[in-house]
Amino acid sequence: MSKPILITEELVKIFSQGTPLEVHALQGVNLEIEKGEIVAIMGPSGCGKTTLLNMIGGLDRPTSGKVWIGNEEITGYPDHEITKFRKENLSFIFQFFNLFDVLTAVENVALPLLLMGEPTKVAEEKSKVILREVGMGSRLYNRPNEMSGGQRQRVAIARSLITKPKIILADEPTGDLSSVISRGIMKLFRRLNEDLGQTFVLVTHSELIGSLCDRIIKMNDGLIIS
Ligand SMILES: Nc1ncnc2c1ncn2[C@@H]1O[C@H](COP(=O)(O)OP(=O)(O)O)[C@@H](O)[C@H]1O
Ligand SMILES: [Mg+2]
Repeated sequence: MSKPILITEELVKIFSQGTPLEVHALQGVNLEIEKGEIVAIMGPSGCGKTTLLNMIGGLDRPTSGKVWIGNEEITGYPDHEITKFRKENLSFIFQFFNLFDVLTAVENVALPLLLMGEPTKVAEEKSKVILREVGMGSRLYNRPNEMSGGQRQRVAIARSLITKPKIILADEPTGDLSSVISRGIMKLFRRLNEDLGQTFVLVTHSELIGSLCDRIIKMNDGLIIS
């Protein structure tokens, strides 16, 4: 088997701003994820799932331990290199989707491509294709404030996929979505995974989502328990 696309080595994160107590959010997490896996991370609220995702994605630094993505140890990089690496390889779907209120769905989703220098017309055509795939074909020209929470979430998902990142990290990507739509989104992830070999790491509370992943990683108290 080839080297895993993602490895964490004894990852520890201690938050020490909010005294009186230090919070040991991660207590030595060892994780290996193969290229092309769709993995769910599950566990009770506060067990460190979001913290782990932030470390994997280079959004925050561990107190100790290492994160490897492919052959690159991103924890050894200075901030500007992590940012560059992140832009080229990773994509996030956040619990709180940061869509721009003044932009339509098409414009929001096209934005990452425009930032990469694609012509507007091409970017917007690609944006429409992926919006249709997440079931938002009838909302192409609506702005976020004209959408339900679930619709906004689907726009955010489309935006995170449009650059075809190697790894997609998602924190409760289907939190606001019905089970029918959740299944649809998982089907899309699965198809992209098969077509493009993309790897998905999904933090979720949903047993349904977990059951549609290749593997479930269970966390508790800052550790992986199975
Ligand atoms: N920025 C922070 N400062 C202080 N404590 C934090 C911070 N972020 C998370 N924590 C704490 O770390 C623990 C793990 O949090 P988190 O990773 O958000 O859990 P989960 O996503 O599994 O609900 C919790 O006890 C939380 O309160
Ligand atoms: Mg969380």
